[in-house]
Amino acid sequence: MLLDVAHLDISYGANPKPTVQDVNFTLNEGEVLTIVGESGSGKTTVIRAILGCLSAGGHVSNGDINFAGRDLLKFSNSDWLDLRGKDVSMIFQDSGAMMNPVQTIGHQYIEYIRTHSDMSKEEAKQRAIDMLARMNLPNPENILNSYAFELSGGMRQRVGIAMAITFHPKLLLADEPTSALDVTTQAQIVKELMNIIKKGGASMIVVTHNIGVAAYMSDKIMVMAGGRVVEYGNTEDVIKNQKKPIPRSF
Ligand SMILES: Nc1ncnc2c1ncn2[C@@H]1O[C@H](COP(=O)(O)OP(=O)(O)O)[C@@H](O)[C@H]1O
Ligand SMILES: [Mg+2]
Repeated sequence: MLLDVAHLDISYGANPKPTVQDVNFTLNEGEVLTIVGESGSGKTTVIRAILGCLSAGGHVSNGDINFAGRDLLKFSNSDWLDLRGKDVSMIFQDSGAMMNPVQTIGHQYIEYIRTHSDMSKEEAKQRAIDMLARMNLPNPENILNSYAFELSGGMRQRVGIAMAITFHPKLLLADEPTSALDVTTQAQIVKELMNIIKKGGASMIVVTHNIGVAAYMSDKIMVMAGGRVVEYGNTEDVIKNQKKPIPRSF
């Protein structure tokens, strides 16, 4: 088992009632779990906890998160720095928004690679080019010389995914990775993500508003409402046995 989340409670600030309560799930190598649920149900909170980067005031107030046999809740800052971007990495809703608008993509990508490895500038550049090509981005050298605003949303998302998979993470976390894109581009990005999983054997947790995407991509689905898990199981079972329909748009 790669990831085991048990009885997880997450609180913000001094609020005595945890925002996320009693979340339990497991993920094996190569599995995809999607998390669906209305806005504010706690999806982002859960995946941020796994990456050890809850937003201000957030903390795990109960439970366990075990990743590849290690207790993430006992991690020091340097343990996290070591894990993030390497064994576990994150794909954001809008990778462009995560990038520095006044630095070229190449500058940021090469710096990112060099922070996580001992590659030379030249080696890092070559690795970046290889990764962009792997995401089917044309003219990777041109992309490295571009600024985020010069690329389309779909291209920016491909760059974000390329960066996230640079070091062959065991676990990819994707928070609404296609929500900012048009329907055609969404479908392409979903396919790219599936290819990564099939080729690389990584596991993935995807937060999505799109139940079609969830059904297509995942081995397991977890439905959240009001900070709790209301459905969890194999995708087919969850889709077949829903007690009430999973909302199609939130
Ligand atoms: N930094 C924060 N401080 C206080 N409350 C927060 C913070 N971040 C999120 N929340 C609250 O936690 C709940 C779950 O939020 P979130 O995990 O972002 O939900 P989702 O991703 O499902 O939309 C919401 O009620 C939200 O207002
Ligand atoms: Mg969210």
